[in-house]
Parts: sequence; C-alpha cells; structure tokens
Amino acid sequence: MSSACLPENFRKLGLRQRQDELRDSCHPPPEEWEAVSPGADLDELSDIMVEGAIGSVPVPLGIATGFLIDGQRLDLPMAVEEPSVIAAATYAAGILRRGGGLSTWAHEPVMTVQVFLEDASAAGEKRVRDSEARIGALADRAQPKMKERGGGFRGLELRRLPHSGILVVDIRIDVREAMGANALNTAAETVRPELESLSGGRAVMSILSNAARQRRAGARFSLPLSGLSALGPRGMGGAELARRIVLASRIAAEDEQRAITHNKGIMNGISALVLATMNDTRAVEAAAHAWAARSGRYQPLSAYTLRGAAEESPEGQTLEGAIELPLAVGSLGGSVGFHPASRFALRVLGFPDAGRLARIAAALGLAQNFAAVLAMVTGGIQRGHMRYHAARLAYQAGARGEEIRRVAEAVAETGRYSREEAAGILERLRKGGSG
Ligand code: MEV
Repeated sequence: MSSACLPENFRKLGLRQRQDELRDSCHPPPEEWEAVSPGADLDELSDIMVEGAIGSVPVPLGIATGFLIDGQRLDLPMAVEEPSVIAAATYAAGILRRGGGLSTWAHEPVMTVQVFLEDASAAGEKRVRDSEARIGALADRAQPKMKERGGGFRGLELRRLPHSGILVVDIRIDVREAMGANALNTAAETVRPELESLSGGRAVMSILSNAARQRRAGARFSLPLSGLSALGPRGMGGAELARRIVLASRIAAEDEQRAITHNKGIMNGISALVLATMNDTRAVEAAAHAWAARSGRYQPLSAYTLRGAAEESPEGQTLEGAIELPLAVGSLGGSVGFHPASRFALRVLGFPDAGRLARIAAALGLAQNFAAVLAMVTGGIQRGHMRYHAARLAYQAGARGEEIRRVAEAVAETGRYSREEAAGILERLRKGGSG
C-alpha cells in the first residue's frame, strides 16, 4: 500500500517518464496498471488532452438497445459504472417502443457568454446598448466558420448586478454543432476591448455561462394503460400502476429530497450518453440542476400525468411522460469527434448533429426515469441491483467466463450475498457439482 509522492516537475516530464515515476512511487500490481494504461496510442491521446496524463479510466461502455425516437430506431451508447443503468434503459425502451416511442424537440444551439465590466458609467452602458450591431460583427469576425455554418451572433443583453454595480454583458451566440465553450470564450475575448472602450469601464472577466437556458431539449411519450397492465405484480392493473407513477411524480414535485434522487436517475441516462460521446458531463449536470431549481425550489425535471376520461374506461386512458432541460452537447469540437471512443459512440448513433444528440439525450433521460419509477412503484429496484451484485461477487471469488453467470445465479438463489458464499459455490462447480 503506498500513495504517490511525485516530483514537483511531474507535469513537465514526458509521458513515459511520468508513467515510470508513478510506477516507481506506487508499485501498482500489473492488473491495475494495465487498467489505467491501455496502450501507447491511447496513452498518447490522453497526453494531448490533459496535463499530467498517465493513461485513462476504462469506464464500462454498453449499448441500450431498442429505442424508438421520433420514428427512428436507435441503439444508444452509454458509459457508466453503475450496474443496472443500461439494463433499465433497454427495458424502458422496449415498453415505450411498443407504445409508439418517444417524440422530442430541441431549441437552436444558442449559448451565452458573459463579460463583467466594473466602473461602467450610465452613458457607457447606453453606448454599449447602441453598438449591438458593431459588437455582433466583431464577434462574428472572430468565428468566420461558425457564421458560414449558419451560426454566430444572436444579440446581447445588459444588466447591472444589484450589489456590486457590475455591468453584465450577456452575449448570445448560435454555436451550431459545437458545445461551444471555445467559440464563446474566443468571441468574448475579441469583443472585450471594444466593450471596455464603449462603456468606459474595465472588464473583470469574461466566460461562457453553462446555464444554457436557451438551449433546452425535451421528450415525451404517451402509453395506453392497457400496455402497462402486464408490467406490475399480479393483481396490479395498468390503471393502478399508472396512478402510482403519477403519484411518484407528484411526490417528487412536493418533496425536494425526492426530487434530487428523481433527477439523479434521469442523469444516470443522460450523463452516460454525454460521457460516451465525450461531451462535458459537468456542464450538462450543472445546467440541469440549475434549471431544476429555477423557481427557487428544486423540482423534478420530468413529470407524469394521466390523460383521458377515467369514468368511461380507465384502460382507455394514457400515461403521459415529459421531460425538459438544458442540453449543451456538441457533435463536433473539443474531445467530441477527436477521441476515437467519441467517434465510435457517434457512429453507433448514426452521426447525429448537435440538436439531434440533445433530443436523443432528453429521450434517454425520460426513459431512464420511467424505468426507475416503474421499478420503484412495482416492488423496488433492489431485485435488479442484486443480480449485478451477485455477478461481482462471483468475479471477486475467481469465477471467469460462463462461470460468472452460473455462480451469480446460484448466489441469488441462496439469497446469501457474500464473497465466501460465491467462493464455495465456485469450488463446488469446478469439482463438477451443480454449484
Ligand atoms: C439509482 O441510481 C437511481 C434511482 O435512485 C433513481 C430514482 O430513485 O428515481 C433508482
């Protein structure tokens, strides 16, 4: 057991030297080292992408299959370490597909970059306001490709911060296929001197806002209750199941503690897709939670309602699910499309443009949430989770290949979830018993 104590110039060393230093200092066993340093080519890519690189983290990548999104059949790449997430997404995809699938929408990819000016006079503020077209032209000149692709400057807004008196210039830019961070920050730095001279103030800083409130996407589905009746335990009809899902949605709207977990379940799906495509998970998460709290109270990002007249026939009603959140994801730029793992994920998706990717992410978030709520109101999620836990115990006990499934099933049958139990079963299995 040792923790690293690396030289101060670590970041300045070459990749190989850094790896040697680290190995000398930590003495990782081969399986640990091979896990984080998969090979020279990928290590080199990491070295280009981040400072101090030594390798990469192999987060499991899986495919959730069987989605029907806006009439298109899709399989979705998901990078996630939590065992049941992909299984749940595929399960929900199948149910929703049989009900007609998910339909989606997305705003244009307009983002905001902010310049904060101190000591700007009222007359200076007016000059900035009156010079919108000139500032826009300057910003566009810094990003000619963006303009050629139909994006570029979309306007600016000014506001004063109440306590500091800082003048905030919010500049809106359509970033097209990009997530936009680089384009936005470049544009802001280009217009900054002009803003200073017009306002008579000094720029304290300029940076994009990750709020992405104008770049929202959403998804919805509509399921006849008759399609739900087979999903609950015996005796729980489709109407009761739908009633519980709607009630779960109301509970999340009433109770903040629950809303947080509800949204975490949504982000299980969205972040897994965002990570698989190597988009910025932190930006998407920050924007989603800020949007959830926009009223001053943290709210669920999705909601479920019943539609149709219950008196006539409960089974004639439909369960409606809907989600809406900011989704600043790109299909090009930064790591997206640069790293081969990102290109692979985009390939599985059929190389969607940024808007389509946001719509797919929204659909996945809703499906993921539906699967979680459905499991919870029909008996709990633990049954599914324990299956994966048993497989992990089998692996830790030394099972490999087909043995893992057989030992895991036997562990689940006994209900005794321990490594010792798995080891005993494995031993008996290898001696030729049934486990
Ligand atoms: C677990 O990762 C996610 C859930 O807790 C989500 C939820 O409670 O809605 C199952």
